[in-house]
Amino acid sequence: MNEMIKTIQNHRSIRSFLDKDIEDDLLDDIIQSAQAMPNSINGQQTSVIVIRKKETKARIAELTGGQKWIDDAPVFLVFVMDFYKTRLAAEKNGLKQVIQESVEGTMVGTFDAGLNMGGAIISAESLGLGIVPIGGVRKNPEDIIELLGLPEYTFPVAGLAIGYPLDPSHKKPRLPQKAFRHDEKYNVEGLKEAIDQYDSEMKSYLSEIGRQQEGNWSQYTSNIYQNVYYPKVYPVLKQQGFQNDK
Ligand SMILES: Cc1cc2nc3c(=O)[nH]c(=O)nc-3n(C[C@H](O)[C@H](O)[C@H](O)COP(=O)(O)O)c2cc1C
Repeated sequence: MNEMIKTIQNHRSIRSFLDKDIEDDLLDDIIQSAQAMPNSINGQQTSVIVIRKKETKARIAELTGGQKWIDDAPVFLVFVMDFYKTRLAAEKNGLKQVIQESVEGTMVGTFDAGLNMGGAIISAESLGLGIVPIGGVRKNPEDIIELLGLPEYTFPVAGLAIGYPLDPSHKKPRLPQKAFRHDEKYNVEGLKEAIDQYDSEMKSYLSEIGRQQEGNWSQYTSNIYQNVYYPKVYPVLKQQGFQNDK
């Protein structure tokens, strides 16, 4: 197994950071890796807001529901779905951009932002840094949009807190691979057993790390998925020009 694969497979989210800044050249490499990822039609519909200011991080920590690790991390990146710059390209060519009105546009923009974040995660972890992605930026997206000055046709998809890890954290087990990998065709057989197996593994894991109150994977996940936990996403997407009606 090469070092790159070892780094990827050793991933764990880090939520406690040392009070130590990230050197500019390391951050430049992380951002460049994020930008190097593949993207749909080479439209490059992602932008990244780099936040180092303490006050801004504190405000984002508040807006995401009190996620203290955003405050503690020296750097917070916000990955933005960005059809504003492609709209400028359309105007330059005297054309009308409509892709942002479609579900396809939102899928392209969010998927690409995720790939960009993946590049940032792998490169940050390869440098010995720790990360945690933050979907919580979608809890109060209108405030994040205002705080970061995001124009129309943009939307904050997710954030990434980066810093030097205070402790190595625990590697969270994943579902058995048969619940992830399907050869040639989707195979429903064995999925329920895989979930049972993982539930008992997660129950032990959670009690080992003192979070037994979360129960197991199926309890925790189905509890969250009973609700649309970020209900502002749809109305704020529409306000930003992403009608999602096509
Ligand atoms: C898109 C995305 C959004 C996430 N949002 C949050 C978040 O708001 N707060 C948080 O503490 N963790 C967040 N996480 C981290 C997940 O909880 C974590 O990746 C998952 O539990 C698996 O654990 P691991 O990363 O340690 O393997 C997010 C992860 C992803 C990929």
